[in-house]
Amino acid sequence: MNLNKNELRPLMGEGRKLFVETYGCQMNVGDTEIVVAVMQQEGYFYTDRIEEADVVLINTCSIRDNAEQRIWGRLSEMRRYRRQKPSLVVGVIGCMAERLKEKLVDGDYGVDVVAGPDTYRDLPRLIHAAEAGGKGVNVQLSLEETYAEIAPVRLDRNGVSAFVSIMRGCDNFCSYCVVPYTRGRERSRDAETIVAEARTLFENGYREVTLLGQNVNSYRTGDVDFPELMRRVASISPLLRVRFATSHPKDMSDKLLEVMASMPNICRSIHLPAQSGATSMLERMNRKYTREWYLGRVAAIRHYMPDCAITTDLIAGFTDETEEEHEATISLMKQVGYDFAYMFKYSERPGTFAQKHLPDNVPDEVKSRRLQEIITLQNELSLESNRRDVGREFEILVESVSKRSEEQLSGRTSQNKMVVFDRGDHKIGDYVRVRITDCSSATLFGEEIFQ
Ligand code: SAH
Ligand code: SF4
Ligand code: F3S
Repeated sequence: MNLNKNELRPLMGEGRKLFVETYGCQMNVGDTEIVVAVMQQEGYFYTDRIEEADVVLINTCSIRDNAEQRIWGRLSEMRRYRRQKPSLVVGVIGCMAERLKEKLVDGDYGVDVVAGPDTYRDLPRLIHAAEAGGKGVNVQLSLEETYAEIAPVRLDRNGVSAFVSIMRGCDNFCSYCVVPYTRGRERSRDAETIVAEARTLFENGYREVTLLGQNVNSYRTGDVDFPELMRRVASISPLLRVRFATSHPKDMSDKLLEVMASMPNICRSIHLPAQSGATSMLERMNRKYTREWYLGRVAAIRHYMPDCAITTDLIAGFTDETEEEHEATISLMKQVGYDFAYMFKYSERPGTFAQKHLPDNVPDEVKSRRLQEIITLQNELSLESNRRDVGREFEILVESVSKRSEEQLSGRTSQNKMVVFDRGDHKIGDYVRVRITDCSSATLFGEEIFQ
């Protein structure tokens, strides 16, 4: 993969134009970049203006009902664009395409193409079928597809940080989760293509890569496991920051923590979704660890990297959740002192084990109240975590001009916290040493340190 900067970027030009709208997780963001690469090879140009598109693809998410509702809303808005351009092809790709399959073209939703997450090489054919007046549907899941040698077209604006997909699918079957059904079986991408992609990014000015997968720490190809892959990617250059998402607590090994601790350019930030603080609940969720085991992993992280940020995902109101189990989640949050969390109300998903065997029986007002308690607590914990940073020094990788002022830049610490500071003579992609002077619960404010 020997590409120069221009080839990493979308080709804009005159010809048939593709617009892609992306919902859901980082995996979908990464997949959209693969889809654009596949379509560019077919001669399509990318556009970021939906009005001028000939083909609109919506890359969808099924994780919770409200994620799908948003997409239904968006599909009904597509009717307007179709009225303006009757030849417009509208495709649904990603997890909702996989979940609903033919139902999406059969219904009266104005969908011409349905493509599941493992069928993106087939998109040109599916789109041609739609252009010829038919429908194009492919939702075949694969045991092998990793799009290993496809060079994603980078749609990010900053040219500093990029996602690199390292594995696909999930075999964990947490009882509430739709992902194993929409993304199929777990498979890892060849290590050499991953390292080559990361090196190309670095040579083209990128300074941060995030290795992506639903469960990155179960990565394995031949004798390369996840710690070894991290070591290889982080060895490209000390100036290349390496992050990863997401790791399952059951696979958070000491070997990985040792590699992380030994390489300062591997970021001090671990997203370790707990889901619940009660062992009885974790069992119903089929998470394969206990509260104590989880806390043991947190202790190990702190042992190897005392300055490592720990963030999490939590679900409120899963099947049979008692007040005690909810309190156990609250106490886990306090005990760990999370720096940040994504927090959700349980949403039953068709086809999952829970939908078949564990009735969604916590009343909605109870779910909402518990979720609110969790959110309120996390806001306090995030503020406390930020306050601890006031007075400390950090190296920031500059990502963008601040939203508030042209005269300020924003970037992240190794712990993945956003810092805003005066521009000075810096530009996007620079590393800058900053002392934190103030904070809100979401942002740190700092000043450059001049040696
Ligand atoms: N593979 C990742 C998570 C992917 S989904 C992991 O296991 O860590 C992101 C988050 O969505 C999950 O961690 C979980 O907190 C949440 N989630 C998944 N299914 C859900 C459901 N049915 N209802 C509410 N939240 C859910
Ligand atoms: Fe879903 Fe669990 Fe797989 Fe994460 S590990 S994607 S929550 S089944
Ligand atoms: Fe959503 Fe699929 Fe990601 S369901 S969270 S887009 S893997």
